[in-house]
Amino acid sequence: MGLQPKKALTFIKQELKDWETLGVNGHEHAQRPWLYYHKLSKGILAKIVGAKPVEVVAMNQLTINLHLMMVSFYRPKKQRYKIITEAGAFSSDQYALESQLKFHGLDLDDALIELKPRDGEYTLRTDDILQTIERTGSALALILLGGVQYYTGQFFDIKNITAAGHKAGALVGFDLAHAVGNVTLQLHNDNVDFAVWCSYKYLNSGPGGIAGAFIHEQHFENKDLPRFAGWWGHEEQARFEMKKGFKPIEGADGWQVSNVPIFQAAAHLASLEIFKRAGMNSLRKKSMLLTGYLEYLLKQIDPEEKHFKIITPPNPEERGAQLSIFFNNDGKRIFNALSRQNIFVDWRNPNVIRLAPVPLYNTFQEVFRFSKILQSLIRNYKRIESVS
Ligand SMILES: Cc1ncc(COP(=O)(O)O)c(C=O)c1O
Repeated sequence: MGLQPKKALTFIKQELKDWETLGVNGHEHAQRPWLYYHKLSKGILAKIVGAKPVEVVAMNQLTINLHLMMVSFYRPKKQRYKIITEAGAFSSDQYALESQLKFHGLDLDDALIELKPRDGEYTLRTDDILQTIERTGSALALILLGGVQYYTGQFFDIKNITAAGHKAGALVGFDLAHAVGNVTLQLHNDNVDFAVWCSYKYLNSGPGGIAGAFIHEQHFENKDLPRFAGWWGHEEQARFEMKKGFKPIEGADGWQVSNVPIFQAAAHLASLEIFKRAGMNSLRKKSMLLTGYLEYLLKQIDPEEKHFKIITPPNPEERGAQLSIFFNNDGKRIFNALSRQNIFVDWRNPNVIRLAPVPLYNTFQEVFRFSKILQSLIRNYKRIESVS
């Protein structure tokens, strides 16, 4: 959960005030008219994910967007129906995939191919991913992976995976929950077919914050693409004519279903303004240094990996602002002790603490202080162990 932007309150208050004073007329006359609110985030979102503004839209929640994308881009045929995903994907993605396969009357065990790290390894080798894609060949309908794997922090090779998927005749989508606002993305140039993300992690837009979707412009020409429609995706000028016959807005906006949740969108805008000022390139540069510094300090604490092992890839190009550390013993005690000191890290079963030094608001001093606290906890932990 990303921190609250200082301006979030001002942005939300503005909408409350416009609602209070204008009522329904806020749709047209609010300082930021509600009818067009989704357009305000386009420019900066496009920069953050490496897309054209017409290819992105802020809407709904991540898993809802994933379902909407799969309605359009997972069209299983008799021969071509398989989906490649990562084993141990975030639960919501697993459930979305499972339910989509059931919806199409397909057998999960047959249709779903899960990529697993080799024995004794934690992350996937790109070559292994590419080989599985090639092997699945004409049976492959869709590849759906996280951009940054939530558990290990591995940043997948989006460009080469997408190219391999296309070569096999499949479509390729990414869940960017842990990648958006974290790593440099080039969705348009990498020819990704679709992507979805949430905004409450690195995009700092608050709990249940409005999510986003990317659809590559090459799909805009295909008017036969099925989609689940609603009035907010219908041609803007004709939206209130209430006539039969859905005509989608050109671009990602045509995938909208419902009207914009303005308070969530307001917090989102407040945050995006910060990204506009900071710029993804500067953030990524600092992020690589900050995560590298944390990695260096962690290795000093436990050079022989007696207590923990960093399972996130060591190559800065293959990770974002995250290091996942796997504890040999009861890491939960370390996690609880860190929490008691108000250090916000994340626990994942069976024995992983995820650390996210966020370049937008974490400092090198904080990373240093954290390492000293962790070191002293591990020393104490050792003493407790040797006594018991
Ligand atoms: C990788 C990933 N996918 C999906 C989700 C679920 O998203 P939502 O509840 O916003 O649909 C999360 C939430 O943390 C996530 O980390």
